[in-house]
Amino acid sequence: MKASISKSDRREFLKKLGLGSLPFFIPATSFANSALKGNSNAANRVNFQFDGISYSPEEYLNKLLQINKQHKIEPDIYGYGGATTALEEKFAEISGKQKAIYLPTGTMANQLAIKLLNGQNTKVIVPENSHIYRDEADAAQSVHAKRLIPVVNNKPYYNRKELDSTISELQSNEVFKSGIGTVVIENPVRRAFGTAIPLDNIKEISQYCKEKGYKMHLDAARIHLAEAYHNTSIREYSAPFDTVYFSLYKYLNAAGGAILCGDAELIDQVAHQIKIHGGTIYQNWNNTAMALYSLNGIGSRFKEMAIKGKNLIKQLNKIDGIEVESTSEGTNLYKMYVSPEMNGFEFDKYLENNYAISIRPPNPKGEIRFSINESILFQTVDEIVLAFKDAAEKMK
Ligand SMILES: Cc1ncc(COP(=O)(O)O)c(C=O)c1O
Repeated sequence: MKASISKSDRREFLKKLGLGSLPFFIPATSFANSALKGNSNAANRVNFQFDGISYSPEEYLNKLLQINKQHKIEPDIYGYGGATTALEEKFAEISGKQKAIYLPTGTMANQLAIKLLNGQNTKVIVPENSHIYRDEADAAQSVHAKRLIPVVNNKPYYNRKELDSTISELQSNEVFKSGIGTVVIENPVRRAFGTAIPLDNIKEISQYCKEKGYKMHLDAARIHLAEAYHNTSIREYSAPFDTVYFSLYKYLNAAGGAILCGDAELIDQVAHQIKIHGGTIYQNWNNTAMALYSLNGIGSRFKEMAIKGKNLIKQLNKIDGIEVESTSEGTNLYKMYVSPEMNGFEFDKYLENNYAISIRPPNPKGEIRFSINESILFQTVDEIVLAFKDAAEKMK
C-alpha cells in the first residue's frame, strides 16, 4: 500500500534541501530558461509549468511558418486588418459581445476597461486577490485617477453578501462620498490556485450590480480553462459583464497580447486610449495569428486535456513517494509533493533530461506547483506515468 506524505515529512524534505532561506518566489525566469532551452527541439515535450505550450523562439518561428503555409498570414497595420481584425471578430463571437479590440497587454485591457466603464465615478470594487488589485502597479490610482476598493474575505472569491457588506461599510464610514462605478471579478482566480467561480455566484452579483447601477468587468485571462473544467461556455461566463478581457499568451500560446470585448460604444473609445498610453504597436500579427490558430479546435483539445489531466493525477497518486492534491473548484492547477527521500531538484532535471517532461522545482513550502496545459496531449498518460515512476525510483 502507498504511504502518504505527512506534513512533518514535508518539513524534513525542506530541511534536507536547505530551502528555509530561499525567497518565497523563485524567479520565473529560472523556470523559463530551463524549459525553453533544455529540450527546445523535442516535439513531444510536455511541460507541467507554464500557461500553455511555451514555445522556444525557434519553435515559435516554425509554428508561424506552418500556420502561414496552411493559411497565408495577413499583416495588420497599427492593429487594423489582417490576422488582428480576424482575431477581434472571433473573440466578439466567442464572448457574445458586440465588438472586440486587440491591446498589447492584459494590464492595459483591465485598466482601460475600468477607466471607461467608470466614467466620472472614482471607485472600483475589486477582489483582494486579483491581478488588478495586486499586480498592476497601482495603475488605477496613479494613471487613471480611480481608487480600488478591495473585497477582503480570505476566500478564493466573494459572493453577493460580501460585496454588499464591503460597499455598505464603505458608504457608512466615509463622509465625502464619491461614486462607485464598476465591480470587477477575475475568473479563474490565479491567486487561488485556478479556482473557477460558479456561474450562479456570478449571476447573483450581477443582479445586485444591476439593482445598484454598477457596471461589471471580467478579467478572464485564463477563462478557456474554466470552460474546459466546468462545462460552462465562455459566452455564459461573459454574459453578465459589460467588458471582458482575454489573454493571448495564457493558453493561446502567443508571445503576448490581449483582447477586450464589450459594447461597440465602449470598444470604439479604446484605440484612442491605447495610443494615449503609448501602446499602439505597428504590427501585431505575430501574436494574433498564433492566438487565432490556437483558438481553432480549442474546445475539443481542452476537453481532452482536462480528462487526460484528471486521469494522470489519479495515476500519479498511485506512485510511492508522490502525492498530488487538487482543489475543489479548481481547474488545471495542483500541488505535488515528493517524499523527503527524494531530491526534488534532481527529480525535475531527471524528468527533463530523460523524458522531455518539465516540472517546477519545489517552492520553500515543499510544494511543486503542477499545472496541466495542452502539451499533455504530446505524450500518452502511460508514458508520463512510467517517466514519473522511473524518476521516483531513481531519486530514492
Ligand atoms: C489574471 C491576470 N490578469 C491580467 C494579467 C495581465 O496580463 P499582461 O501580462 O498581459 O499584462 C495577468 C498576467 O499574469 C493575469 O494573470
